[in-house]
Amino acid sequence: MARRLSAGARLVLASHNPGKLREIEALVAPHSVSVVSAGELGLPEPVEDAPDFVGNARIKALAAAHASGLPALSDDSGFCVAALGGAPGVLSARWAGLAKDFTSAMARVNAELGAAAERRAWFVAVLCLGWPDGHTDSFLGRVDGSAIWPPRGDRGFGYDPMFLPGGAAQTFGEMEPEAKHALSHRARAFAQLMAACLG
Ligand code: IMP
Repeated sequence: MARRLSAGARLVLASHNPGKLREIEALVAPHSVSVVSAGELGLPEPVEDAPDFVGNARIKALAAAHASGLPALSDDSGFCVAALGGAPGVLSARWAGLAKDFTSAMARVNAELGAAAERRAWFVAVLCLGWPDGHTDSFLGRVDGSAIWPPRGDRGFGYDPMFLPGGAAQTFGEMEPEAKHALSHRARAFAQLMAACLG
């Protein structure tokens, strides 16, 4: 049973990624919680050294909850490509290097795919609500589609321009934010979190 947030609760968004923050703020906006980001509180970024999305989401949520004394919402997510055995997966941010160069990261995915006919790909997001006493609840969302080349669109962030969701005509990089929210991995995880923790 997930621990519930009280109406009007103050929540730390435990991410320093501007693209994620923008999307999570839009998802949280209709609900009766107020948010402050880890960056606004001057919280450091913890080392994400768990082998999976759930582990890294817990690390980030608990680091922010302990440092702030508030419940904290984290997101650990990634782009997974079937023909690459699920890579870059938990290493999605690291493939972009210190310069956070996602043009290069997408080019690497395409280069490693080569002429492979198998283009199935998916995004995963684990949202974790962590509490100062160490309690956590995690929720996983996923959206399936394909890895396309060349990338299309300049909206969104990260690998969005090379991801075409199943049944869609536009990549995540081409879609209006509302269209991405209607089917994204992050929105799907968030819907579960809200149903379990605030409703
Ligand atoms: P981390 O969760 O901080 O390890 O970073 C996840 C990385 O996955 C991001 O830096 C993006 O590169 C990628 N990613 C996660 N969600 C999305 C998305 O919605 N669109 C595009 N890229 C994403």
